[in-house]
Amino acid sequence: MIRIAPSILAADVLNLERDARRMIAAGADWLHVDVMDAHFVHNLAYSPETVRRLKEISPVPLDVHLMMDQPGRYLDVFLDAGADVLTIHTEIGGDIGGMLDKIRRRGAKAGLALKPGTGLSAVIPWLDQTDLILTMTVEPGFGGQKLNEAVLEKIAELRDRGYRGEIEADGGIREDNLARLTAKGLTVAVMGTALYRAEDPAAMMARLHEM
Ligand code: DX5
Ligand code: ZN
Repeated sequence: MIRIAPSILAADVLNLERDARRMIAAGADWLHVDVMDAHFVHNLAYSPETVRRLKEISPVPLDVHLMMDQPGRYLDVFLDAGADVLTIHTEIGGDIGGMLDKIRRRGAKAGLALKPGTGLSAVIPWLDQTDLILTMTVEPGFGGQKLNEAVLEKIAELRDRGYRGEIEADGGIREDNLARLTAKGLTVAVMGTALYRAEDPAAMMARLHEM
């Protein structure tokens, strides 16, 4: 069954707890928390403190997506805060393998993300050191964009290569395109706008889980 990870980027920041609880009650499998440093992407979002407080109320794993130039400096603080899945971007270079190993050593799942324009070759060297590959289906930075269909082939190719970890997609996922992603081998779908704008998120989540 596909796991759904509502993205709190689409929540009302003044009602973050209410909105997170709403998604948990609606059947969220994970909660996706975007972290943006204004360098790697042109936006700023959520801190370790946000993760720490969400951890207090969340019975489901926290899936923390670090859109940062220097995530290595912050792995410990996000892990201490309660990240269950911690994902870094391959485009940053540096000691990717060392960072992934560190996340695993601390008992969390290690994720490696790639932007829509980044080729799969940029994650291949580290597949064995990851629990999850996050294929971005929009340019990272903002919610509410349109899904880039070309990314579907990356998901298919990862499975063709025998990758057995989680494959997650993030950006522009809606009820009308999810089945195409799962058909390629997607196992975790991040959804912001579609779920938060839904009149009945629980009903939508139930339909998504049937796909
Ligand atoms: C984009 C973020 C996504 C975003 C997805 O940089 O990583 O998590 O919140 O939102 P939607 O579903 O609105 O595209
Ligand atoms: Zn994200």
